[in-house]
Amino acid sequence: MSAKWTPQSWRGKEALHQPVYPDAQALVDVETRLSTFPPLVFAGETRNLKRQLAEVANGKAFLLQGGDCAESFAEFHPDNIRDSFRVILQMAVVLTFGAACPVVKVGRMAGQFAKPRSSPMEEIDGVELPSYLGDSINGMDFTSESRIPDPERMVQSFNQSAAMLNLLRAFAQGGYADLHKVHRWTLGFLERSPQGERYRELADRIAECLDFMGACGITSQTTPVMRETDFFTSHEALLLPYEEALTRIDSTTGNWYDCSAHMLWIGERTRQLDGAHIEFMRGIGNPIGVKVGPSVSEDDLLRLVDALNPDNEAGRLTLISRMGDDKIEERLPELVRALKREGRIVIWACDPMHANTIKSSTGYKTRPFDRILAETRSFIAVHKAEGTHAGGIHIEMTGQDVTECLGGAQEITEQGLSDRYHTHCDPRLNASQALELAFLVAEGLKQERLQSEDRIVTAS
Ligand code: PEP
Ligand code: CO
Repeated sequence: MSAKWTPQSWRGKEALHQPVYPDAQALVDVETRLSTFPPLVFAGETRNLKRQLAEVANGKAFLLQGGDCAESFAEFHPDNIRDSFRVILQMAVVLTFGAACPVVKVGRMAGQFAKPRSSPMEEIDGVELPSYLGDSINGMDFTSESRIPDPERMVQSFNQSAAMLNLLRAFAQGGYADLHKVHRWTLGFLERSPQGERYRELADRIAECLDFMGACGITSQTTPVMRETDFFTSHEALLLPYEEALTRIDSTTGNWYDCSAHMLWIGERTRQLDGAHIEFMRGIGNPIGVKVGPSVSEDDLLRLVDALNPDNEAGRLTLISRMGDDKIEERLPELVRALKREGRIVIWACDPMHANTIKSSTGYKTRPFDRILAETRSFIAVHKAEGTHAGGIHIEMTGQDVTECLGGAQEITEQGLSDRYHTHCDPRLNASQALELAFLVAEGLKQERLQSEDRIVTAS
Protein backbone atom coordinates (compact mmCIF):
# COMPACT_ATOMS: atom_id res chain seq x y z
CA MET A 1 0.00 0.00 0.00
CA SER A 2 2.84 2.41 0.65
CA ALA A 3 4.08 2.23 -2.97
CA LYS A 4 3.85 5.51 -4.84
CA TRP A 5 0.32 6.46 -5.85
CA THR A 6 -0.52 7.96 -9.24
CA PRO A 7 -3.90 8.28 -10.98
CA GLN A 8 -2.75 5.29 -13.08
CA SER A 9 -1.29 3.09 -10.32
CA TRP A 10 -4.56 1.10 -10.13
CA ARG A 11 -3.60 -0.37 -13.50
CA GLY A 12 -1.00 -2.53 -11.79
CA LYS A 13 -3.69 -4.24 -9.69
CA GLU A 14 -6.58 -6.51 -10.46
CA ALA A 15 -9.63 -4.45 -11.45
CA LEU A 16 -12.91 -6.35 -11.10
CA HIS A 17 -16.15 -5.53 -12.92
CA GLN A 18 -14.47 -3.64 -15.77
CA PRO A 19 -15.84 -3.91 -19.31
CA VAL A 20 -13.73 -5.40 -22.06
CA TYR A 21 -13.79 -2.93 -24.95
CA PRO A 22 -13.46 -4.58 -28.35
CA ASP A 23 -11.55 -1.58 -29.76
CA ALA A 24 -8.63 -0.75 -27.46
CA GLN A 25 -7.60 2.30 -29.50
CA ALA A 26 -11.10 3.78 -29.29
CA LEU A 27 -10.86 3.51 -25.50
CA VAL A 28 -7.50 5.29 -25.42
CA ASP A 29 -8.89 8.06 -27.65
CA VAL A 30 -11.84 8.62 -25.32
CA GLU A 31 -9.61 8.61 -22.23
CA THR A 32 -7.37 11.21 -23.85
CA ARG A 33 -10.32 13.44 -24.75
CA LEU A 34 -11.93 13.10 -21.33
CA SER A 35 -8.69 14.07 -19.64
CA THR A 36 -8.83 17.45 -21.41
CA PHE A 37 -12.45 18.16 -20.43
CA PRO A 38 -13.13 20.62 -17.61
CA PRO A 39 -13.58 19.12 -14.14
CA LEU A 40 -17.22 18.64 -13.11
CA VAL A 41 -16.58 19.73 -9.54
CA PHE A 42 -13.97 21.94 -7.97
CA ALA A 43 -11.62 20.50 -5.32
CA GLY A 44 -12.58 23.28 -2.88
CA GLU A 45 -16.18 22.06 -2.99
CA THR A 46 -15.12 18.54 -2.04
CA ARG A 47 -13.18 19.97 0.90
CA ASN A 48 -16.29 21.85 1.95
CA LEU A 49 -18.23 18.57 1.84
CA LYS A 50 -15.49 16.89 3.86
CA ARG A 51 -15.77 19.59 6.52
CA GLN A 52 -19.51 19.04 6.70
CA LEU A 53 -18.99 15.29 6.88
CA ALA A 54 -16.54 15.81 9.74
CA GLU A 55 -19.51 17.23 11.65
CA VAL A 56 -21.40 14.03 10.85
CA ALA A 57 -18.45 11.94 12.06
CA ASN A 58 -18.50 13.93 15.29
CA GLY A 59 -22.19 13.22 15.84
CA LYS A 60 -23.39 16.74 15.07
CA ALA A 61 -24.99 16.26 11.64
CA PHE A 62 -26.58 13.60 9.45
CA LEU A 63 -25.75 12.39 5.94
CA LEU A 64 -28.63 11.90 3.50
CA GLN A 65 -27.45 10.23 0.31
CA GLY A 66 -29.93 9.15 -2.34
CA GLY A 67 -30.90 8.85 -5.96
CA ASP A 68 -31.27 6.32 -8.74
CA CYS A 69 -29.64 2.92 -8.66
CA ALA A 70 -28.58 3.61 -12.24
CA GLU A 71 -29.12 6.87 -14.09
CA SER A 72 -30.06 6.52 -17.72
CA PHE A 73 -29.66 8.44 -20.95
CA ALA A 74 -33.27 7.75 -21.96
CA GLU A 75 -34.83 9.18 -18.81
CA PHE A 76 -32.74 12.34 -18.78
CA HIS A 77 -35.38 15.00 -18.29
CA PRO A 78 -35.48 18.19 -16.20
CA ASP A 79 -38.74 17.09 -14.51
CA ASN A 80 -37.12 13.88 -13.27
CA ILE A 81 -34.16 15.80 -11.88
CA ARG A 82 -36.43 18.33 -10.19
CA ASP A 83 -38.68 15.67 -8.70
CA SER A 84 -35.83 13.64 -7.18
CA PHE A 85 -34.29 16.85 -5.89
CA ARG A 86 -37.50 17.93 -4.18
CA VAL A 87 -38.00 14.57 -2.48
CA ILE A 88 -34.47 14.85 -1.08
CA LEU A 89 -35.30 18.38 0.11
CA GLN A 90 -38.47 17.09 1.75
CA MET A 91 -36.61 14.25 3.47
CA ALA A 92 -33.97 16.72 4.64
CA VAL A 93 -36.63 19.02 6.09
CA VAL A 94 -38.25 16.13 7.95
CA LEU A 95 -34.86 15.17 9.38
CA THR A 96 -33.71 18.68 10.18
CA PHE A 97 -36.95 19.73 11.82
CA GLY A 98 -37.89 16.40 13.38
CA ALA A 99 -34.46 15.69 14.80
CA ALA A 100 -33.06 19.24 15.10
CA CYS A 101 -30.01 18.00 13.24
CA PRO A 102 -28.25 19.60 10.24
CA VAL A 103 -28.47 17.38 7.16
CA VAL A 104 -25.71 17.02 4.57
CA LYS A 105 -27.40 16.34 1.23
CA VAL A 106 -25.60 14.19 -1.32
CA GLY A 107 -27.29 12.93 -4.51
CA ARG A 108 -26.56 9.59 -6.13
CA MET A 109 -26.80 11.75 -9.18
CA ALA A 110 -24.92 13.30 -12.09
CA GLY A 111 -22.58 10.36 -12.65
CA GLN A 112 -24.20 7.13 -11.39
CA PHE A 113 -23.93 5.27 -14.69
CA ALA A 114 -21.78 2.14 -14.17
CA LYS A 115 -23.10 -1.02 -12.48
CA PRO A 116 -21.45 -4.15 -11.10
CA ARG A 117 -23.71 -7.11 -11.91
CA SER A 118 -24.11 -10.40 -10.09
CA SER A 119 -23.77 -12.30 -13.36
CA PRO A 120 -21.76 -11.32 -16.48
CA MET A 121 -24.48 -12.89 -18.67
CA GLU A 122 -28.23 -12.44 -18.85
CA GLU A 123 -30.65 -15.02 -20.21
CA ILE A 124 -34.13 -14.33 -21.55
CA ASP A 125 -36.23 -17.07 -23.17
CA GLY A 126 -33.18 -19.23 -23.85
CA VAL A 127 -31.16 -16.37 -25.40
CA GLU A 128 -27.97 -15.45 -23.57
CA LEU A 129 -26.27 -12.04 -23.91
CA PRO A 130 -23.71 -10.06 -21.88
CA SER A 131 -25.39 -8.25 -18.98
CA TYR A 132 -26.28 -4.59 -19.07
CA LEU A 133 -23.51 -2.74 -17.20
CA GLY A 134 -24.93 0.77 -17.01
CA ASP A 135 -25.42 3.47 -19.65
CA SER A 136 -21.79 4.62 -19.49
CA ILE A 137 -20.72 1.15 -20.70
CA ASN A 138 -23.38 -0.54 -22.85
CA GLY A 139 -27.07 -0.37 -23.72
CA MET A 140 -30.04 -1.84 -21.88
CA ASP A 141 -31.79 -3.18 -24.99
CA PHE A 142 -31.59 -6.94 -25.11
CA THR A 143 -29.70 -7.17 -28.42
CA SER A 144 -26.12 -8.30 -28.99
CA GLU A 145 -25.33 -4.97 -30.67
CA SER A 146 -26.50 -2.92 -27.71
CA ARG A 147 -24.59 -5.00 -25.17
CA ILE A 148 -21.17 -4.30 -26.73
CA PRO A 149 -19.18 -1.92 -24.48
CA ASP A 150 -18.68 1.40 -26.25
CA PRO A 151 -16.21 3.95 -24.81
CA GLU A 152 -18.09 6.86 -26.47
CA ARG A 153 -20.74 6.30 -23.82
CA MET A 154 -18.32 7.73 -21.25
CA VAL A 155 -18.38 11.03 -23.14
CA GLN A 156 -22.18 11.04 -23.10
CA SER A 157 -22.14 10.28 -19.35
CA PHE A 158 -19.81 13.20 -18.81
CA ASN A 159 -22.03 15.55 -20.82
CA GLN A 160 -25.21 14.42 -19.10
CA SER A 161 -23.53 14.77 -15.69
CA ALA A 162 -22.41 18.31 -16.55
CA ALA A 163 -25.91 19.37 -17.64
CA MET A 164 -27.52 17.77 -14.63
CA LEU A 165 -25.06 19.27 -12.19
CA ASN A 166 -25.75 22.66 -13.73
CA LEU A 167 -29.46 22.31 -13.02
CA LEU A 168 -28.89 20.91 -9.51
CA ARG A 169 -26.66 23.86 -8.66
CA ALA A 170 -29.35 26.21 -9.98
CA PHE A 171 -32.05 24.53 -7.87
CA ALA A 172 -29.85 24.55 -4.77
CA GLN A 173 -28.60 28.11 -5.05
CA GLY A 174 -31.14 29.89 -7.21
CA GLY A 175 -34.16 30.11 -4.92
CA TYR A 176 -35.95 26.79 -5.48
CA ALA A 177 -34.61 25.43 -2.17
CA ASP A 178 -35.73 28.49 -0.19
CA LEU A 179 -37.26 27.23 3.05
CA HIS A 180 -40.27 29.50 2.45
CA LYS A 181 -41.17 27.12 -0.40
CA VAL A 182 -41.42 24.15 1.95
CA HIS A 183 -45.04 23.49 0.95
CA ARG A 184 -44.36 23.69 -2.75
CA TRP A 185 -41.91 20.78 -2.82
CA THR A 186 -44.75 18.30 -2.40
CA LEU A 187 -45.37 16.30 -5.55
CA GLY A 188 -48.92 16.21 -6.86
CA PHE A 189 -49.44 12.51 -6.30
CA LEU A 190 -48.25 12.79 -2.69
CA GLU A 191 -50.85 15.35 -1.68
CA ARG A 192 -53.57 12.81 -1.01
CA SER A 193 -51.33 10.28 0.74
CA PRO A 194 -50.79 9.78 4.50
CA GLN A 195 -47.13 10.77 4.13
CA GLY A 196 -48.16 13.90 2.22
CA GLU A 197 -50.54 14.79 5.03
CA ARG A 198 -47.87 14.23 7.66
CA TYR A 199 -45.44 16.36 5.67
CA ARG A 200 -48.00 19.15 5.30
CA GLU A 201 -48.44 19.33 9.08
CA LEU A 202 -44.70 19.62 9.53
CA ALA A 203 -44.44 22.22 6.77
CA ASP A 204 -47.22 24.25 8.48
CA ARG A 205 -45.19 24.32 11.67
CA ILE A 206 -42.08 25.38 9.79
CA ALA A 207 -44.03 28.13 8.01
CA GLU A 208 -45.24 29.38 11.38
CA CYS A 209 -41.64 29.52 12.66
CA LEU A 210 -40.58 31.34 9.50
CA ASP A 211 -43.37 33.91 9.93
CA PHE A 212 -42.22 34.52 13.47
CA MET A 213 -38.60 34.86 12.38
CA GLY A 214 -39.65 37.16 9.53
CA ALA A 215 -41.43 39.39 12.01
CA CYS A 216 -38.14 39.55 13.93
CA GLY A 217 -36.34 40.64 10.76
CA ILE A 218 -34.78 37.28 9.84
CA THR A 219 -35.73 36.63 6.22
CA SER A 220 -34.33 34.98 3.07
CA GLN A 221 -32.94 38.39 2.14
CA THR A 222 -31.08 38.90 5.41
CA THR A 223 -30.08 35.26 5.90
CA PRO A 224 -28.80 33.42 2.79
CA VAL A 225 -28.90 29.96 4.45
CA MET A 226 -32.68 30.21 4.36
CA ARG A 227 -32.80 30.59 0.61
CA GLU A 228 -29.86 28.42 -0.48
CA THR A 229 -28.63 24.98 0.32
CA ASP A 230 -25.52 22.94 -0.37
CA PHE A 231 -26.17 19.97 -2.57
CA PHE A 232 -23.40 17.54 -3.47
CA THR A 233 -23.06 14.73 -6.00
CA SER A 234 -21.73 11.18 -5.69
CA HIS A 235 -21.54 7.89 -7.53
CA GLU A 236 -19.86 4.51 -7.33
CA ALA A 237 -16.31 4.87 -8.67
CA LEU A 238 -16.57 1.63 -10.60
CA LEU A 239 -15.41 2.46 -14.10
CA LEU A 240 -11.78 3.30 -13.43
CA PRO A 241 -10.74 4.63 -16.86
CA TYR A 242 -13.45 7.30 -16.52
CA GLU A 243 -12.48 8.20 -12.94
CA GLU A 244 -8.79 8.36 -13.82
CA ALA A 245 -9.44 10.71 -16.74
CA LEU A 246 -11.26 13.13 -14.45
CA THR A 247 -8.64 13.04 -11.70
CA ARG A 248 -6.74 16.30 -11.57
CA ILE A 249 -4.20 18.14 -9.43
CA ASP A 250 -5.74 20.92 -7.38
CA SER A 251 -3.70 24.06 -7.88
CA THR A 252 -4.50 25.32 -4.36
CA THR A 253 -3.15 22.32 -2.45
CA GLY A 254 -1.15 20.36 -5.02
CA ASN A 255 -3.21 17.25 -4.17
CA TRP A 256 -5.11 14.96 -6.53
CA TYR A 257 -8.91 15.02 -6.63
CA ASP A 258 -11.34 12.96 -8.65
CA CYS A 259 -13.38 15.79 -10.15
CA SER A 260 -16.17 13.57 -11.56
CA ALA A 261 -18.19 14.08 -8.32
CA HIS A 262 -17.83 15.50 -4.83
CA MET A 263 -17.95 12.09 -3.16
CA LEU A 264 -17.14 8.65 -4.56
CA TRP A 265 -17.71 5.24 -3.09
CA ILE A 266 -16.42 1.70 -3.56
CA GLY A 267 -19.03 -1.03 -3.97
CA GLU A 268 -19.35 -4.24 -2.01
CA ARG A 269 -17.99 -6.26 -4.93
CA THR A 270 -14.83 -4.24 -5.55
CA ARG A 271 -13.43 -3.54 -2.08
CA GLN A 272 -10.61 -6.14 -2.16
CA LEU A 273 -7.66 -4.75 -0.16
CA ASP A 274 -5.16 -5.55 -2.92
CA GLY A 275 -7.54 -4.58 -5.72
CA ALA A 276 -7.51 -1.72 -8.19
CA HIS A 277 -10.44 0.20 -6.69
CA ILE A 278 -8.87 0.54 -3.25
CA GLU A 279 -5.60 1.53 -4.91
CA PHE A 280 -7.31 4.28 -6.92
CA MET A 281 -9.43 5.63 -4.08
CA ARG A 282 -6.67 5.80 -1.49
CA GLY A 283 -4.91 8.53 -3.46
CA ILE A 284 -7.71 10.99 -4.17
CA GLY A 285 -8.48 13.80 -1.75
CA ASN A 286 -12.31 13.59 -1.96
CA PRO A 287 -14.49 12.30 0.83
CA ILE A 288 -15.10 8.64 0.04
CA GLY A 289 -17.35 5.79 1.04
CA VAL A 290 -17.11 2.04 1.04
CA LYS A 291 -19.98 -0.42 1.16
CA VAL A 292 -19.73 -2.96 3.96
CA GLY A 293 -21.70 -6.19 3.66
CA PRO A 294 -22.18 -9.03 6.14
CA SER A 295 -19.15 -11.03 4.99
CA VAL A 296 -16.57 -8.49 6.17
CA SER A 297 -14.43 -9.50 9.18
CA GLU A 298 -13.39 -7.13 11.93
CA ASP A 299 -9.79 -7.43 10.80
CA ASP A 300 -10.56 -6.80 7.13
CA LEU A 301 -12.56 -3.75 8.03
CA LEU A 302 -9.76 -2.27 10.14
CA ARG A 303 -7.31 -2.82 7.31
CA LEU A 304 -9.71 -1.28 4.83
CA VAL A 305 -10.17 1.76 7.04
CA ASP A 306 -6.41 2.18 7.47
CA ALA A 307 -5.79 1.86 3.74
CA LEU A 308 -8.42 4.47 2.88
CA ASN A 309 -8.01 6.86 5.78
CA PRO A 310 -4.46 6.43 7.12
CA ASP A 311 -4.49 9.87 8.79
CA ASN A 312 -7.77 9.13 10.60
CA GLU A 313 -9.22 12.32 9.20
CA ALA A 314 -12.82 13.06 10.23
CA GLY A 315 -15.15 13.29 7.21
CA ARG A 316 -12.85 11.40 4.87
CA LEU A 317 -14.45 7.97 5.19
CA THR A 318 -18.06 6.82 5.31
CA LEU A 319 -18.77 3.15 5.94
CA ILE A 320 -22.04 2.29 4.25
CA SER A 321 -23.40 -0.74 6.05
CA ARG A 322 -25.65 -2.99 3.91
CA MET A 323 -26.16 -6.11 5.95
CA GLY A 324 -29.78 -7.08 5.38
CA ASP A 325 -32.51 -6.87 8.00
CA ASP A 326 -31.81 -10.46 9.03
CA LYS A 327 -28.05 -10.03 9.59
CA ILE A 328 -27.52 -6.50 10.81
CA GLU A 329 -28.03 -7.19 14.49
CA GLU A 330 -25.65 -10.10 14.38
CA ARG A 331 -22.89 -8.42 12.35
CA LEU A 332 -22.91 -4.66 12.90
CA PRO A 333 -22.33 -4.34 16.68
CA GLU A 334 -18.92 -6.03 16.70
CA LEU A 335 -17.73 -3.91 13.75
CA VAL A 336 -18.91 -0.67 15.33
CA ARG A 337 -17.30 -1.70 18.63
CA ALA A 338 -13.98 -2.61 16.96
CA LEU A 339 -13.63 0.76 15.25
CA LYS A 340 -14.61 2.59 18.40
CA ARG A 341 -12.10 0.58 20.46
CA GLU A 342 -9.32 1.30 17.94
CA GLY A 343 -10.20 5.00 17.84
CA ARG A 344 -10.95 5.11 14.12
CA ILE A 345 -13.07 8.08 13.09
CA VAL A 346 -15.63 7.08 10.49
CA ILE A 347 -19.20 7.88 9.56
CA TRP A 348 -21.55 4.94 9.79
CA ALA A 349 -24.33 5.18 7.21
CA CYS A 350 -27.04 2.62 6.51
CA ASP A 351 -27.92 1.35 3.06
CA PRO A 352 -31.10 -0.59 3.83
CA MET A 353 -31.65 -1.44 0.15
CA HIS A 354 -28.96 -3.71 -1.27
CA ALA A 355 -29.14 -6.69 1.06
CA ASN A 356 -32.94 -6.78 1.08
CA THR A 357 -33.52 -7.55 -2.59
CA ILE A 358 -35.78 -10.46 -3.59
CA LYS A 359 -37.51 -11.74 -6.69
CA SER A 360 -41.29 -11.43 -6.58
CA SER A 361 -43.49 -14.33 -7.61
CA THR A 362 -44.40 -12.18 -10.61
CA GLY A 363 -40.74 -12.12 -11.70
CA TYR A 364 -39.71 -8.61 -10.60
CA LYS A 365 -36.58 -7.76 -8.66
CA THR A 366 -38.05 -5.97 -5.66
CA ARG A 367 -37.54 -5.02 -2.02
CA PRO A 368 -40.11 -5.31 0.75
CA PHE A 369 -40.42 -1.86 2.31
CA ASP A 370 -40.94 -3.49 5.73
CA ARG A 371 -37.48 -5.01 5.52
CA ILE A 372 -36.00 -1.64 4.52
CA LEU A 373 -37.64 -0.06 7.58
CA ALA A 374 -36.54 -2.99 9.76
CA GLU A 375 -32.87 -2.72 8.74
CA THR A 376 -32.94 1.04 9.33
CA ARG A 377 -34.53 0.57 12.75
CA SER A 378 -31.90 -2.00 13.70
CA PHE A 379 -29.12 0.29 12.47
CA ILE A 380 -30.34 3.06 14.74
CA ALA A 381 -30.79 0.64 17.66
CA VAL A 382 -27.27 -0.78 17.31
CA HIS A 383 -25.74 2.70 17.42
CA LYS A 384 -27.89 3.62 20.35
CA ALA A 385 -26.70 0.54 22.23
CA GLU A 386 -23.04 1.17 21.35
CA GLY A 387 -23.19 4.88 22.14
CA THR A 388 -22.15 5.78 18.59
CA HIS A 389 -23.83 8.03 16.03
CA ALA A 390 -26.21 6.65 13.41
CA GLY A 391 -24.62 8.99 10.90
CA GLY A 392 -26.55 8.62 7.69
CA ILE A 393 -28.72 6.75 5.22
CA HIS A 394 -27.92 5.79 1.66
CA ILE A 395 -30.96 4.96 -0.43
CA GLU A 396 -32.15 4.29 -3.94
CA MET A 397 -35.15 6.54 -4.56
CA THR A 398 -36.86 8.62 -7.18
CA GLY A 399 -39.35 11.45 -7.31
CA GLN A 400 -41.45 9.47 -9.80
CA ASP A 401 -44.53 7.64 -8.53
CA VAL A 402 -43.07 4.21 -9.24
CA THR A 403 -44.16 0.79 -7.98
CA GLU A 404 -40.84 -0.96 -7.49
CA CYS A 405 -40.62 -1.76 -3.75
CA LEU A 406 -43.39 -3.75 -2.06
CA GLY A 407 -45.58 -2.24 0.66
CA GLY A 408 -45.57 1.24 2.18
CA ALA A 409 -48.65 3.39 2.65
CA GLN A 410 -49.79 2.64 -0.91
CA GLU A 411 -49.56 -1.07 -0.06
CA ILE A 412 -47.87 -2.02 -3.32
CA THR A 413 -48.44 -5.72 -3.94
CA GLU A 414 -46.59 -8.27 -6.06
CA GLN A 415 -49.29 -7.84 -8.71
CA GLY A 416 -49.04 -4.06 -8.46
CA LEU A 417 -45.30 -3.98 -9.20
CA SER A 418 -45.92 -4.08 -12.94
CA ASP A 419 -47.98 -0.84 -12.89
CA ARG A 420 -45.06 1.57 -12.93
CA TYR A 421 -41.85 -0.45 -12.71
CA HIS A 422 -39.32 1.77 -14.52
CA THR A 423 -35.90 1.25 -12.94
CA HIS A 424 -32.86 0.50 -15.09
CA CYS A 425 -31.36 -1.62 -12.36
CA ASP A 426 -32.47 -2.02 -8.73
CA PRO A 427 -35.94 -1.19 -7.33
CA ARG A 428 -36.21 2.31 -5.81
CA LEU A 429 -38.32 3.87 -3.10
CA ASN A 430 -41.00 6.20 -4.42
CA ALA A 431 -41.58 9.60 -2.83
CA SER A 432 -44.12 8.32 -0.32
CA GLN A 433 -41.88 5.47 0.84
CA ALA A 434 -38.86 7.79 1.00
CA LEU A 435 -40.77 10.22 3.22
CA GLU A 436 -41.99 7.45 5.50
CA LEU A 437 -38.40 6.34 5.94
CA ALA A 438 -37.33 9.93 6.71
CA PHE A 439 -39.97 10.20 9.45
CA LEU A 440 -38.72 6.96 11.00
CA VAL A 441 -35.10 8.12 10.97
CA ALA A 442 -36.02 11.55 12.35
CA GLU A 443 -37.66 9.88 15.34
CA GLY A 444 -34.59 7.69 15.89
CA LEU A 445 -32.24 10.65 15.74
CA LYS A 446 -34.39 12.59 18.15
CA GLN A 447 -34.13 9.72 20.65
CA GLU A 448 -30.36 9.62 20.12
CA ARG A 449 -30.11 13.33 20.86
CA LEU A 450 -32.26 13.08 23.99
CA GLN A 451 -30.13 10.17 25.19
CA SER A 452 -26.89 12.11 24.72
CA GLU A 453 -28.37 15.20 26.41
CA ASP A 454 -29.34 12.94 29.32
CA ARG A 455 -25.78 11.68 29.49
CA ILE A 456 -24.44 15.24 29.60
CA VAL A 457 -26.89 16.26 32.33
CA THR A 458 -26.12 13.13 34.37
CA ALA A 459 -22.39 13.69 34.00
CA SER A 460 -22.48 17.34 35.11
C1 PEP B 1 -25.31 0.07 -5.50
O1 PEP B 1 -25.17 0.91 -4.61
O2 PEP B 1 -26.02 0.26 -6.50
C2 PEP B 1 -24.65 -1.25 -5.34
C3 PEP B 1 -24.38 -2.02 -6.37
O3 PEP B 1 -24.44 -1.56 -4.06
P1 PEP B 1 -23.50 -2.65 -3.37
O4 PEP B 1 -22.10 -2.37 -3.82
O5 PEP B 1 -23.69 -2.38 -1.91
O6 PEP B 1 -24.00 -4.00 -3.77
CO1 CO C 1 -28.42 -0.60 -6.67
